Amino acid sequence: MMIQNKNIWHKEGTQGSPPENHPDQEILVPFGFQQIPKKEKVGRTLRHFNTVAAKYDFMNTLLSFGIHYLWKRTAIEMLHLKPGDRVLDVCGGTGDLAVLAVRSVDLSGKVIIYDINRKMMQVGRAKRNQSGRRNRIEFIQGDAESISFPDDSFDAAMVGFGIRNLTHMDLGFKEMHRILKPGGKIMCLEFSKPTAPLFRWLYDIYSFHVIPFLGKVLVGSRQAYLLLPESIRVFPLPEELSALLRDIGFHKVSYRRLTNGIAVVHVAEKR
Ligand SMILES: C[S@@+](CC[C@H](N)C(=O)[O-])C[C@H]1O[C@@H](n2cnc3c(N)ncnc32)[C@H](O)[C@@H]1O
Repeated sequence: MMIQNKNIWHKEGTQGSPPENHPDQEILVPFGFQQIPKKEKVGRTLRHFNTVAAKYDFMNTLLSFGIHYLWKRTAIEMLHLKPGDRVLDVCGGTGDLAVLAVRSVDLSGKVIIYDINRKMMQVGRAKRNQSGRRNRIEFIQGDAESISFPDDSFDAAMVGFGIRNLTHMDLGFKEMHRILKPGGKIMCLEFSKPTAPLFRWLYDIYSFHVIPFLGKVLVGSRQAYLLLPESIRVFPLPEELSALLRDIGFHKVSYRRLTNGIAVVHVAEKR
């Protein structure tokens, strides 16, 4: 079922938790512009990343003209990591953020890539091995909505282009809050809405026509690459995301728009 067309950006209520005391099978959640049964979302997300894993890094670089590396570098700088820090890279995938972060935490620190999809992490292994800090990066397979680490056990948690994929984004942020030590920092890098109307118009054409076309030609799936712009559209805008982080208990919430707002980095701290 289509919930909105591409002229509409995020509307409150299109993502987040379903009403309480509601049987699972009747609850619909967004998967791009479709509304699907809640219980199907994890499986469909897994299949989506199985489809794109092998060419994920190549496509990211191609579709962003390489700019995603600059966004990731800026996002890591905003986290102000220190030598010795323990960092959780939630939805870490093929490990770009982890490889950048490990340089700052030095030989006494550690970065754990935590992702539900084995294939994505397998693609990241070569990158980890070439990072020069092979034994400072670990992979753990698990669900970001139920993180398998104790309370107060990390100095920083980060999520890059991953929180959009969760069934309950708020649960993901709550889990990141739980595993952080008091004073620990969170960083979230996500796609958002460009601010300049003309640029936004060009970006729309690129997102809804060029990206799915390249997805079809290069990865064999137009649908997988249509999910990208659609899921961006139903994702909260920066002020809404800041409010959610505050509600969860983070303070010192701030954000920075990158490339006219195509991507946004949020940072915040656990009290
Ligand atoms: C778009 S990729 C981002 C990868 C990486 N962070 C980056 O910046 O390139 C999103 C990742 O989120 C992971 N993911 C989706 N749902 C998840 C969940 N419930 N728990 C953990 N990881 C999940 C996917 O497997 C995928 O690797």
